[in-house]
Amino acid sequence: MMTKPTEGVISVAQANAAKMADRNTSFVFDEWYVAALASEVGRSLLSRTLLGRRIVLYRTQAGTVVALDDRCIHRSYPLSAGTLENDTIVCGYHGFRYGAEGDLVEIPSQDRCPRGLGVHRYPVREIGPMIWIYMGEASAPRTEPPIEAVLNLSKWEYSEGYLPLRGNYVSLHENLLDLTHLSYIHAKSFGTPDYARAPFEVEIEEGCYALKRSVVPTTLPPVWAVPTGISSPSAARIATSTFVSPGLHVVEVTFYDSALPEEERTRFTIRTLHLPTPESHDSTHYFIVHCRDFALENQEITKFMHDQLFSAFREDVEALELLEGVLRCADADFFEISIASDRPSVEMRKYLKRRAGATLGT
Ligand code: FES
Ligand SMILES: [Fe+2]
Repeated sequence: MMTKPTEGVISVAQANAAKMADRNTSFVFDEWYVAALASEVGRSLLSRTLLGRRIVLYRTQAGTVVALDDRCIHRSYPLSAGTLENDTIVCGYHGFRYGAEGDLVEIPSQDRCPRGLGVHRYPVREIGPMIWIYMGEASAPRTEPPIEAVLNLSKWEYSEGYLPLRGNYVSLHENLLDLTHLSYIHAKSFGTPDYARAPFEVEIEEGCYALKRSVVPTTLPPVWAVPTGISSPSAARIATSTFVSPGLHVVEVTFYDSALPEEERTRFTIRTLHLPTPESHDSTHYFIVHCRDFALENQEITKFMHDQLFSAFREDVEALELLEGVLRCADADFFEISIASDRPSVEMRKYLKRRAGATLGT
């Protein structure tokens, strides 16, 4: 019995995969990523590896977030292992002192401190619960964090969280872009059996990849049925996953009762910001901000939804860690077959590969 594809099918699949980003592809540095939750950064030194670079974060006395390369220019001791004195860092090895701009301002073993020495200071923006960092070389980035084009946080109720993921960020984007997996990975949480077979549409343009799935009629799982009050089997669940940038993926879902006439339908919308920041090729900082436009200022609902959602997102983390274990062992015979619902993610991965190549060339 023949179960393995022919050599021809395998070589076409491998040729396509060669154009797509995977766990070995370089990172896209010329972009904004979430470095930390705002609540994590205070008056102590926070060390974090982002896109393979060690960064130290802290707040000045005035509350401004500072992000510097976490390596003393003297003998490479991590600055995060030093001390924060007022707005300066004193290296814990031989006492070099750095100002909030990253400039070296004092060498204790000599009177004179040469000018023009220091460490790179990264541009940062604090937006709601997120600290964004620009990882490109330029000290003045050409763009702003993509979040502001996606939503105005002040109009939404939100809660945020962080999950460490022992897996590559490309797989996380791919997971988010095709929610077919809700019927399987999330069968016991917020998935329903009809999800995988629901009709979908795709939208593809350079740098923006989306898949919209319409699950109508359906029964909502408790995480949505309780806060919306839609408990009938005539619910509509319309979900759009959009890759916005290497550091931002938005999933928007609208719910309403499809049994009601159009004009009587109350629509409830959630937008989840999935914020993957590569730590290394094997690990990702997975930040999440979950926003809703209903039950505003209802903290009980916030807690209920947050707990349910984060236990579902942990299912993704577990699945992606299992997947990573397989991908790590890929050999020369490795191939994968893509299907119609993979189109946005295939194009997204090609885009990431092009961007990674462009970064390397500059
Ligand atoms: S390594 Fe920092 S002062 Fe020597
Ligand atoms: Fe998922």
